[in-house]
Amino acid sequence: MTAERTLAIIKPDAVGRNLIGKIIAHLEGAGFVIRELQMTRLSEDEARRFYEVHSERPFYQSLVAFMTSGRCVPMVLERHSAVSALRETIGATDPARAAHGTVRALYAESVERNAIHASDSPENAAREIDFFFPS
Ligand code: RTP
Ligand code: MG
Repeated sequence: MTAERTLAIIKPDAVGRNLIGKIIAHLEGAGFVIRELQMTRLSEDEARRFYEVHSERPFYQSLVAFMTSGRCVPMVLERHSAVSALRETIGATDPARAAHGTVRALYAESVERNAIHASDSPENAAREIDFFFPS
C-alpha cells in the first residue's frame, strides 16, 4: 500500500504534562513512522496563520492563546492512509465524545486543551507539513 504523510502536533497542554513520550509511543503503536519532528513555541502570528481557517469562529482567540502558551511538538507521520488513520487514532475534538482508547480519550483535558492536532485532509496535510517543515 502507498504511504501517505500527515501532520500531527502534540499541543502545549500535553507537553506541559510530560506526555510527549506516551503520545509518540501510541502513534508508533498505531503504525505511524515519524519522518520529521521538532519542538517549538509558536508566535502569535504563526498560531493565527496556522489556524486561519478558524478565524471567524468564536473560539479562535482562545485557541491562539492556548497554542502560544507553551511549547508544542509538530511532526510528520507516515503510514498508509495516514490522514484518515491519524484522525481515527486521535479521536473526536471533544474528549468526552472521543472513542475509548484514542489519544484524546486518554490524554485530553477539554475540547480546547485536547492534547493533539491532526490534519483533516490530504490537501491540508500538504499545507501544514510545509508550514513547519518547508522543503
Ligand atoms: P485540530 O485541528 O487541532 O486537529 O482539531 P479538530 O480538527 O478536531 O478540531 P477543529 O474544529 O479543527 O478545531 C481546532 C481546535 O480548536 C479548539 N477548539 N475549541 N472551545 C471550542 O468549542 C473549541 N472547538 C475547537 C480545539 O483545540 C480544536 O482541536
Ligand atoms: Mg482541525
